[in-house]
Amino acid sequence: MPLLLPVKELIAGMTLAEPLVFKGRVMVAAGRPLAEDELDGLRRRFPRSLVRVADAYLDDIVTFQDDRRDREVALQAQGQIASCMTEVGRTMVRRSALSTRDFKTMESAALEMMRYLADHPVTAAMVMRTMDSENHIADHTGSVFYLSLVLGSAVKGYVVQERIRQTSLKQMRPSVAMDLVPLGLASMFADVAMFSLADVYDDPPERLSDRQQQFIREHPNRAADLLPELFPAIARAVIRSHHENHAGRGYPKGTEGDRQHVFSRIIRICDAFAAVTAVDVFKEAISPCRALWEMTRGPARDCFDPVLMPLFARLIQPFPIGARVELVDGRGAVVVRYNRNEPFRPVVVVAFDEHGARLPAERMAGPLDLSAEDQVRLARFGEEDLGYLYAPEDEPSNEPSPGQSAAVSIQHRQVAVTDSKVMLDQERRFERLIWCSFP
Ligand SMILES: [Fe+2]
Ligand SMILES: [Fe+2]
Repeated sequence: MPLLLPVKELIAGMTLAEPLVFKGRVMVAAGRPLAEDELDGLRRRFPRSLVRVADAYLDDIVTFQDDRRDREVALQAQGQIASCMTEVGRTMVRRSALSTRDFKTMESAALEMMRYLADHPVTAAMVMRTMDSENHIADHTGSVFYLSLVLGSAVKGYVVQERIRQTSLKQMRPSVAMDLVPLGLASMFADVAMFSLADVYDDPPERLSDRQQQFIREHPNRAADLLPELFPAIARAVIRSHHENHAGRGYPKGTEGDRQHVFSRIIRICDAFAAVTAVDVFKEAISPCRALWEMTRGPARDCFDPVLMPLFARLIQPFPIGARVELVDGRGAVVVRYNRNEPFRPVVVVAFDEHGARLPAERMAGPLDLSAEDQVRLARFGEEDLGYLYAPEDEPSNEPSPGQSAAVSIQHRQVAVTDSKVMLDQERRFERLIWCSFP
């Protein structure tokens, strides 16, 4: 399993385990030693990116959780939906609404991808960044679709319970309540109106005009209104409320969370996470770890469904397998397994000394489950100081936090996943937890 390192930590002679691709072009091939002049270029152009570096030494002596298959599934799902949405974007330039025919084509792509995800179950999603982005809105939609279906599948018990609680019918068959098709369609088309604002990405203004800001606040209703008549009514209603917050103060209506459809609450989480962890022309990305912390424990936490949000954090995992992190005593450790119960406390092996030099096998420590090792704390991951993970929880605030304000803006990017066996265990655990929370 390769090490995941920030570009600035690369040194000459290291070998990339995966090629570095930017806008469809291979910038640096995998499998050959990096030269000093290549490194200068990488540090200049991609200073914040993470890359996978082959490490045969660690591979020999450490057993890493294998996340390759799940990353493939994630890329496949996100990539397919993103390329569909790129087509939708082109159509929207020509016409202001989608025709029945456009919708039918996109619907069958969504259904096919839902079948693919059902056939390739995952339980954990891991953020994976590529530098391959051409169309922000399409990429963002790919991430939101994929995350929403992974989360929706993992919490089917909660979905069924909430749909039955919210329905006006006396009875809803569990098979109907469990149907995730409206979630898939809503997550795919929730931001479709934003294509009309795509020019601000090509030629970003100093700040968004009042009219543009108003447009963003209206985009849920605009999206719902421009979809053809045969678009399912539930999915259309879900789109209208995908930016409402659990504690109110969302948009367009500001109504409170448990009155929103459970699919809207799922998309709200996935949309905000995909948005704040993506770089776009208006802002820097925040790290997946910081985003999850703000959304679960930080000042943005009252925006999100309090049952779904911690489950999402367990599903996503803040630290990818192979991430090299710095401990408070200066030593370097490598994440070898996720921690399902305490996602901010992964399982690590201490493999580097305070100067970054490799420790001989006999002086390496671990695997250490950081949730059981209070004295072993994380200090940094790449450029990020992780001190906030050990700070007391913030009180929810009425003021928008950086996470919240970023969450309501428009953005885009990518994500990825993990292992199907763990998913099944995880789902059973989720189910218990959920039903315990709602006796
Ligand atoms: Fe949206
Ligand atoms: Fe969005």
